[in-house]
Amino acid sequence: MNAVQRSGHVLTVEIATSIADEALAELCEATNAAIAEGGGFGWVQAQDRAALARHFRGVLLVPDRTLFLARLDGEVVGSAQLVRPPKNNEAQAFAAQLTHAYIAPYARGHGLARALVTRAEEHAAAMGFRVLNLDVRETQTRAIALFESLGYRRWGTHPAYARVEGRTVAGHFYYKLLEPGRGRSTESLMGGA
Ligand SMILES: CC(C)(COP(=O)(O)OP(=O)(O)OC[C@H]1O[C@@H](n2cnc3c(N)ncnc32)[C@H](O)[C@@H]1OP(=O)(O)O)[C@@H](O)C(=O)NCCC(=O)NCCS
Repeated sequence: MNAVQRSGHVLTVEIATSIADEALAELCEATNAAIAEGGGFGWVQAQDRAALARHFRGVLLVPDRTLFLARLDGEVVGSAQLVRPPKNNEAQAFAAQLTHAYIAPYARGHGLARALVTRAEEHAAAMGFRVLNLDVRETQTRAIALFESLGYRRWGTHPAYARVEGRTVAGHFYYKLLEPGRGRSTESLMGGA
């Protein structure tokens, strides 16, 4: 668990291997608040608590996924998922995907999203991944500002990326090179990526 103090708040990011009922309830509330505000998840409409709880319990059971929880003063207010490639995808075994990253609207602006994404990057690098991929709706301007300030490079835009409330929304695709800190450097291994 990484905890930092900022402006009188305690920011924490942890990897969840199990989840207590109280934390799960907070996570479901944060998720629905983010969905209602407009994104961070594939869901467009708020979900009932049971459906969200099933989703997160399911995530914990999937070997290829790691769930990160962000807490503000101890309360779960956001999450992100790191997805590793399946074993049969040898050709892309160097790349992981960051998905479903969000902070509830009532906990934004404290630096938690930056801490959450940075923690996921550190974990991916420590696992030996050289590339982290992510994609985001073009309407998520705060997320785009965050990812670009963290060094993600936009390599493409999909014009028919998502459908939200009857409208087609474009999406941007990003990657970032990671340095595992052991073995050859990513730059020398991957060439001019
Ligand atoms: C994007 C999001 C995660 C940011 O959460 P947050 O906890 O407020 O972010 P932070 O406080 O860590 O701020 C990180 C960066 O976000 C941007 N940002 C934060 N608040 C902002 C604001 N009010 N206006 C513009 N940019 C802002 C800045 O680039 C900031 O950089 P800084 O650290 O140099 O100030 C949050 O707005 C969110 O959940 N949005 C909806 C979900 C989403 O878009 N997810 C990404 C798709 S997977």
